[in-house]
Formats: sequence, structure tokens, C-alpha cells
Amino acid sequence: MQLPDEAIAYNYQHLLTPALDDWTPAAELRQQHFLSPGKVRDLTPRVLQVRSQVATERELKLVPQELQPLDGGFIDLPQKLLDQHKKQGDASTLGRVLKLAERMREQVDRFVVLGIGGSYMGAKALFESLKSSYHNDLPAKDRSGTPRIYFEGNNADNDSLHELFEMLSITCVEPDQRDERWGVTVISKSGGTLETAAAYRAIRKEMAEFYGPHATQLKDLVVPITGATGSLRNLCKADGFADENVLTIPDDVGGRYSVFTPVGLLPAAVMGLDVRALLLGALAMTKQFLEERFDNNPVLQYAAINYLMNTECQKPIRVLSVWSKKLESLGLWYDQLLAESLGKQGLGPTPITAVQTRDLHSRGQQHQEGARDKVINNVVVKSWTNPPIAISMTERNEDDLNQYNRKNLPDIMHAALAGTNKAYNDVSRPTADIVLPSITEHTIGQLMQMLMLATVVEGRLMGVNPYGQPGVEAYKRNMKEILKKTT
Ligand code: PA5
Repeated sequence: MQLPDEAIAYNYQHLLTPALDDWTPAAELRQQHFLSPGKVRDLTPRVLQVRSQVATERELKLVPQELQPLDGGFIDLPQKLLDQHKKQGDASTLGRVLKLAERMREQVDRFVVLGIGGSYMGAKALFESLKSSYHNDLPAKDRSGTPRIYFEGNNADNDSLHELFEMLSITCVEPDQRDERWGVTVISKSGGTLETAAAYRAIRKEMAEFYGPHATQLKDLVVPITGATGSLRNLCKADGFADENVLTIPDDVGGRYSVFTPVGLLPAAVMGLDVRALLLGALAMTKQFLEERFDNNPVLQYAAINYLMNTECQKPIRVLSVWSKKLESLGLWYDQLLAESLGKQGLGPTPITAVQTRDLHSRGQQHQEGARDKVINNVVVKSWTNPPIAISMTERNEDDLNQYNRKNLPDIMHAALAGTNKAYNDVSRPTADIVLPSITEHTIGQLMQMLMLATVVEGRLMGVNPYGQPGVEAYKRNMKEILKKTT
């Protein structure tokens, strides 16, 4: 269960207007751009009501028309997967994920994840946040038996896919050697996404050339992950994949909510991540969401504060400002989650990911002095995984750093965060902090589940269905028509 030092928290006190504030120009600005605690109090009963609604929705057997589509299966999924694994072991979904991943780790040194949108962004976020930033450059012995990981099928970029094939053909010459073999997972819930399907077709051709047109590797080194029906499912059947080697994305889990289905879990297990810890983190957050009062409920707090920031304080731009380079893809995963879930009916906040301290040197000026249309949610990491790198004393001091000789990189990061928050606060630019005790599978599991749940709650507060993405279909229809017309 959740240990207190592993729990993530949402600290938003800095963006509330102080109780007693004498009139000054600065106080006037705070009144305009910060949130009055009364507004948060007034919204709390509604937020609790929405929580009950979300809790009830997940038990509905028949979904009323006005709630469709309803893809709330992600909420109980961590619990279900862990329970099923306990009872059924290798035959369970998690058991099969772990087995297939083990086979892949034993068999290949390079592993390509094909998928787009919700079918890859979660896995990419897990890879970047939880593996070494230089994982793919490490020799095999320092990667603890896990393959190098690549992401493709997320674009129609000819040169990028070509360069992947080029790299594979240069580095993988002898298919009999594990260190020169590569494998693939192809992920598409619908099975009909053109970018991923085209990349899979091209990669199957490459595989047939490398392993031979009838080689067993063409199936053993491919893990398809798809919905119960659809063209990818049909293709797998036609190609003779055994049913147990094709992983299924549950019907009631939408793409951008699918990181804790095989979509995220299979790549995570191939990377050698502790998928049980990920699921336990997500499960802990679901429990906290369903059971805790507002004051100890980061999901409800985050949803309420950000909803009010948008609707009451006119802050339609939502910046997720991550204070670790390793969290950039997690920010981009959240961009998609928020944009596709809430960008409907002419509404919805606009997400932006900023990576600090890097973007203080690019976006910082705008955040400090630009349009007052932003709320900044920092993601702050309290303890770093690796030992601190010291500034230390050196004989040559032309860089003038000896004055900081007792400091280290975490001290610089801490000072930059405190200094930035103060600079924004001084001019009434609202910020809040999501605090991660450290970056581990358990905290990332919590964070992702927190952001998914908060997005659903916020959608319900706005009167927008957080599931489905009807707006994405228009470009797909046009693209397919244009392709047909020009053939
Ligand atoms: O959130 C979503 O549903 C989308 O982003 C999808 O994940 C994305 O369009 C890919 O779809 P599919 O998995 O069907 O290929």
C-alpha cells in the first residue's frame, strides 16, 4: 500500500488570494489573477458530486445515450489486472504481457514500438522518465538485458522511418545472434490508423528480408496490441498469429487512457520496468480519488483549481512545467490527454509543456511578462535518483563558480524553482506544484492516473464528454479521400 513518503501531493496555496490584503496596485492584481478561497469552497460540493457521478458511471451496464461514448474502464483497470494476475498467473493479461516481454528481452537487442497518439505517448513517457536518458547508447551488459527502444509509426515521415530501417540494416547483420536481432510491437486500438498501419506494412517487409520470408521470427518477434475487432486483428489472424500472442485493448478504455493496458505495459515490461509497481501506484491514486476528502485528494484539487483558473480567472492556457528533463514526454502525453479530452464544443484549456530549467531560456520571458492567460502547474521532483553532482572548488575560477563550491545541481534546480515561483508570484502570475517524492514506477503510476482522473472530473465539471475524439476523424476522412482520388 501507499507509504506516506511515496505519495504525490498538489500544493496550490500560492495561487489563492490572501485573506487580508490591504489595497495596493499589487493586491488589486492578485484579486484579478489569483483565486479566492471562497470560490474553491463553493465549488467543493459540486466536485464531490462529480466524483460520485464518475464512480457510478464505471458501474453502468447500460450506458445512456447522453453519456456515450463512456470509456471509464481505465479507473478500475489496475486493480483488475493485479487481481486477475494473482488468481490466473501466466494466463492472465498481465501474465501474458510479462511472458511476451520476457521472450522479447531474451530474443532481441532492439525493439520498435509502432503506434500513434494514445497508442504510444504513454509508453514513450515511461521510457523517458524511468530509463537512463542514454539507455540506447549503453552497451548490452549495462542495459540489464533490456533492448534498445525506438518509437515509430507515429508519423507519415518518410525519412524518419527510412532512417530507422537504415540503422537496423547497419547494426543488425546476423539474425542468429541476439545482439543483432530486432523485434516489434504494433499498437492500434482501431487497427485502422493509417500512419501506424503503413509503418507496420513497411516493417513487415523489412523483417521478411532480414529473417527470411517464412521465418518463425516474423511472428515470434512481433507483438500486436489491438482492439477485439478491426483490420489489425484481421491481419494477425490471416498471418496466423496465435490468439494468445495478440494482446487486447479493452473496449471500455480509450486510447489516451490506455497506458495501463498492454499498450503501455508491454513496452514497459520489455524495457525492464516494474509494471506491478506502476499499477500499484495507479491503484493507490484511484483509491485516494474515490475515498479521500477534498483536502487529501490531489485529483479533486487539481481538477477544481484548474477548472476555476480557466473559468473564473480567465487562464485558458495550462502550462505543465516539468522540473526534470526526463518528464518532457510525460508532459506531451498530458498535452494529448487534455487536448483530446476537453477540446470540444468550443471549450477546453490549451495545454503546453515546458521543461525547466531549459525553457526559462525560451518561454520564461513570456510567462513572466506576456499575456496573463496562463496557469502554471509545476511538476517538482523532491529527490533525485542519482548522487548529486557537486560544483566543487577548482584552482581556475574564471567561470566564477567557486563561490558556489558547496552547492550541487539539485541545489541549482531548487533555487531556480523557488526563484521562478517567487518571480511569478511577485507579479501575480498563478503557479501550483505537483510534488513527486522521486521518479519511480510507483510515483509515475500515481501521477498518470491522477492526471487521467482529473481530466475526467474536469470534463464533467465543464459539461464536456472527456471520452471520444470526434474532431480527429475529420482529417482522417479527408486524408483517405484525397489518397483515393489521387491514385
Ligand atoms: O486517444 C485516442 O483515442 C487517440 O489518440 C488514439 O490513441 C490515436 O488516434 C491512435 O488510434 P489507434 O490506437 O486506433 O491507432
